[in-house]
Amino acid sequence: MTVSYKELGLVNSKELFKKAIDGGYAIPAYNFNNLEQIQAILQACVETKSPVILQVSSGARKYANATLLRNMAKGATEYVKELGYDVPVVLHLDHGDTFELCKDCIDNGFSSVMIDGSHHSYEENIELTKKVVEYAHKHDVTVEGELGVLAGVEDDVVAEESSYTRPEEVEDFVKRTGVDSLAISIGTSHGAHKFTPAQCTKNEDGVLVPPPLKFEILEEVEKRIPGFPIVLHGSSSVPGKYVEMINENGGSIDAAIGIPEDELRKAAKSAVCKINIDSDGRLAMTAAVRKVMKDKPGEFDPRKYLGPAREELKNLYMHKNNKVLGSAQKA
Ligand code: G3H
Ligand code: 13P
Ligand code: ZN
Repeated sequence: MTVSYKELGLVNSKELFKKAIDGGYAIPAYNFNNLEQIQAILQACVETKSPVILQVSSGARKYANATLLRNMAKGATEYVKELGYDVPVVLHLDHGDTFELCKDCIDNGFSSVMIDGSHHSYEENIELTKKVVEYAHKHDVTVEGELGVLAGVEDDVVAEESSYTRPEEVEDFVKRTGVDSLAISIGTSHGAHKFTPAQCTKNEDGVLVPPPLKFEILEEVEKRIPGFPIVLHGSSSVPGKYVEMINENGGSIDAAIGIPEDELRKAAKSAVCKINIDSDGRLAMTAAVRKVMKDKPGEFDPRKYLGPAREELKNLYMHKNNKVLGSAQKA
């Protein structure tokens, strides 16, 4: 039995991306794998009237169960209406690594998939991406491809070094694969440790400022494929307040440095129309849970620590939509 995303009330990303590029903002792509995360994402996006991409990695599918996640996404489209505003919801596979995984998601209610062939050779990446696009487009599902490698951890793949996207390849890649959007590598990376302190300079307030993103690569890509939807992965900002809160409450997270918000805002105004954020949500939840554990050692009702974690997450996502991505009021 297959389930079309249309039966679940979801949308693909085509129209959303067109509007985002024209409007100079980016659609948030927030990862989730449990109830409190999807509640926080949807509440924040309804309150800010933002379109939203619910993003599921293959690790999340294994963790939470694919059937349960699909039904949570189905619930999501009903829940947003119940909350009072029918924001468009996309269900997207994050970092799909095989045709079979993408097909399984397409057959089971996903409206968008990423096929990440960036670890393969250029020609193999094209072949794999094209195969996914051919299947996805038969089902009106949108496909994100990737050129260039981001450093950091994605499921079982760990890339020590990033390699920037080569602008001279993008036109050929897009034409030969038929992808609907393209993730590029311009200096972002996955996880909470995107830069070492040694790579940063200190500003007048003593805050470590990382090296700027390679906007010159983004501009060159835009010149070669004008108006084509670009995606930024690894876009967590790693807010200092969460790292401090974690460390003050028994945690130990060293030298965590993310992408400054003003750089993401600048990117969102360009052809970047989808910005992926996962690590910031993990930090916000962990910070809130640790605080309750420290302040109330006798507490053992999960709602008493997951509730505050959900509230912290919601505040974080509302801030992103309002102040960073610019997606608020665009639904
Ligand atoms: O890019 C990776 C995402 O943050 C998903 O992470 O594979 O640990 O679920 P995960
Ligand atoms: P962060 O680790 O910076 O949150 O990036 C998440 C991501 O790119 C998911 O695909
Ligand atoms: Zn990613």
